[in-house]
Amino acid sequence: MTQGSVRSLEGRVAFITGAARGQGRAHAVKMAREGAAIIAVDVCASVASDNSYDAATSEDFAETIRLVEAEGGKILAREVDVRDGAALTAVVKDGVEQFGRLDIVVANAGVCNWNRFWEMSDEQWETLIDINLTGVWKTLKASVPAIIEGGRGGSIIVVSSVAGLKALPGQAHYASAKFGLVGLTQAAAKELGEYKIRVNSIHPYGVNTPMGVDQGALEVFAKFPQYLPNFTPILSDIAFAEPDEIADTVLWLAGDGSRTVTASHIALDQGNSKV
Ligand SMILES: NC(=O)c1ccc[n+]([C@@H]2O[C@H](COP(=O)([O-])OP(=O)(O)OC[C@H]3O[C@@H](n4cnc5c(N)ncnc54)[C@H](O)[C@@H]3O)[C@@H](O)[C@H]2O)c1
Repeated sequence: MTQGSVRSLEGRVAFITGAARGQGRAHAVKMAREGAAIIAVDVCASVASDNSYDAATSEDFAETIRLVEAEGGKILAREVDVRDGAALTAVVKDGVEQFGRLDIVVANAGVCNWNRFWEMSDEQWETLIDINLTGVWKTLKASVPAIIEGGRGGSIIVVSSVAGLKALPGQAHYASAKFGLVGLTQAAAKELGEYKIRVNSIHPYGVNTPMGVDQGALEVFAKFPQYLPNFTPILSDIAFAEPDEIADTVLWLAGDGSRTVTASHIALDQGNSKV
């Protein structure tokens, strides 16, 4: 921000899930820089035994808090699992009490792992769907009443994936959840339009986070090289976007500059969904 300019989210409050690290942290820091107070949750624990990358920790979450506060931002951070609707409702209530309102939701928390669909255990399928699809529904259910109550409208950003625009082999459960978020986004946009609440989804391809650089993917490609053509981006020099680049679009969707945009599905995917 240049001195004297008006910050785009001044006075607003954003609820962000999965904020301990990665993209969720980038959203929290960027929105705080633009004047928003942050209500942040993260599970900070291993919740999917099929994941082949390390789980976020309480120390990661503490770093997010530090970075938000370094921007001069206020943050209420709590370790909550997005599968726990009552805990989500409680943190939103406490955040609205503390900061006075709620304007923005970024439903970002998620997990990712790999297998051919007929070789997945029930647990692998169900855990991922519970977190990546039902957890987003619970996030919206817990937070939307507070935005409606404020009467000022708002913006909800659902974090889907390129796998919510085209299915990727080795990830049938992930694609099912991320395609499901497209339906949830459209239905929510239609139900919330009368309250001036916009709902859009974003669809990244590779992002430079612990999930994005998961070595488990390389094992799948080594085992099933025939899958590789599905993972080719048009912009082949950008294997991974930076979380901060994804946060630029999320910031735009959160603010008034996107006031005509709802029920949209925005590909931030280096063109991969068209390959
Ligand atoms: N990294 C990529 O390449 C990529 C690409 C497309 C979409 N995405 C999506 O972006 C979102 C953010 O992922 P990321 O890349 O920052 O990965 P990440 O693993 O760095 O961050 C995800 C965060 O979500 C948290 N989380 C996981 N399960 C949770 C639960 N049950 N309750 C609360 N918090 C939970 C984790 O603890 C972690 O801090 C996810 O929805 C992911 O599916 C990622």
